[in-house]
Amino acid sequence: FENFKILATASQVPKKVVNNDELATMMDTSDKWITQRTGIKRRHIAVEETTSSLCTAVAKQLLKKSGVLATEIDLIMVATMSPDYLTPSVSAMIQGNLGATNAVAMDIDAACSGFVYGLKAAKQLLMAETPKKAILIGGETLSKLVDWHDRSTAVLFGDGAGGVLLENASKSAGSFISENLKTFGELGHHLTAGQTGVPTPFMTQSAKFSPFFQMNGRRVYRFAVNKVPESINQALNQASLKADEIDHFVLHQANRRIIEKIAETLGVPMEKFPINIDEYGNTAAASEPILLDELVRTGSIQRGDVVLLSGFGGGLTVGTMILKF
Ligand code: ACO
Repeated sequence: FENFKILATASQVPKKVVNNDELATMMDTSDKWITQRTGIKRRHIAVEETTSSLCTAVAKQLLKKSGVLATEIDLIMVATMSPDYLTPSVSAMIQGNLGATNAVAMDIDAACSGFVYGLKAAKQLLMAETPKKAILIGGETLSKLVDWHDRSTAVLFGDGAGGVLLENASKSAGSFISENLKTFGELGHHLTAGQTGVPTPFMTQSAKFSPFFQMNGRRVYRFAVNKVPESINQALNQASLKADEIDHFVLHQANRRIIEKIAETLGVPMEKFPINIDEYGNTAAASEPILLDELVRTGSIQRGDVVLLSGFGGGLTVGTMILKF
């Protein structure tokens, strides 16, 4: 096993809370429909906050909680599909905001699988001689990618950020146990958002860019309930672990029904699947680290626990990582 230590976890969400009843005043929907179909009751929506401001707040908390200096950080990585700009990257903005002068910074985009893909990338870099300390954050302001007149997507998403401070430690308390990452680019058109660009004089007049989420919800649902258990089983097999040896299944919070279905397929009781989608909605790359931080803060996750993270989403992508905390 590859040794590492999560020195700290942290999360930050916007102050403004929008509940289902408030959405029902804006579009043809209801608290009943949203609750029954998704499990979402409210979400936090950015007003002044941006992806970089939420991520910077998380990074500052990580430094404070771990007692690590900004100048000791070697790598800053942000998983996001909703950056402030295409350039500079959110991670470079954090590096500047922190004064983390020794850190290299880069963003990674694997939509809702972003945090697991980021762990994979950060791990590979941590295993090299340097860097030794990395900040990995999943951060999103999906509210700016939503068409607020489209009830089929607007009710689903929320804003927030969560992250970890990782250290490559030879005599460490934790380890990466196994992983399974897969990309299905041929299915990517089922979930698109944030098409960017400006019309140029060389384009045909019909060239249009669609910034908003467009999702074939049923197709993505089917993808999730099939591919996530497959990915989890492959990661378990690789580690010769049984599902009941996992202490916490920290799954991407996209839809309560999806998580219930995955639990049923794996034959694992729902108590092992913590859920906070009611409070935040789907926050894409931020959903797993926000949940991880809550579980650590409330003492549910203890040192030595075996934690399985699994996400799915745009790409389409799926990713599972098992680690000893
Ligand atoms: N309020 C009220 N009615 C609605 C709403 C709404 N907000 N949205 C849709 N409906 C209606 C539809 O129009 C439809 O009406 P009809 O039967 O008259 O045609 C009916 O409700 C059922 O719609 P479905 O789309 O079939 O509902 P479904 O049970 O599939 O739930 C949902 C939709 C929640 C989107 C589900 O398909 C889902 O969770 N899919 C997966 C989405 C997902 O996980 N995405 C994650 C990717 S995240 C990422 O990578 C960023």
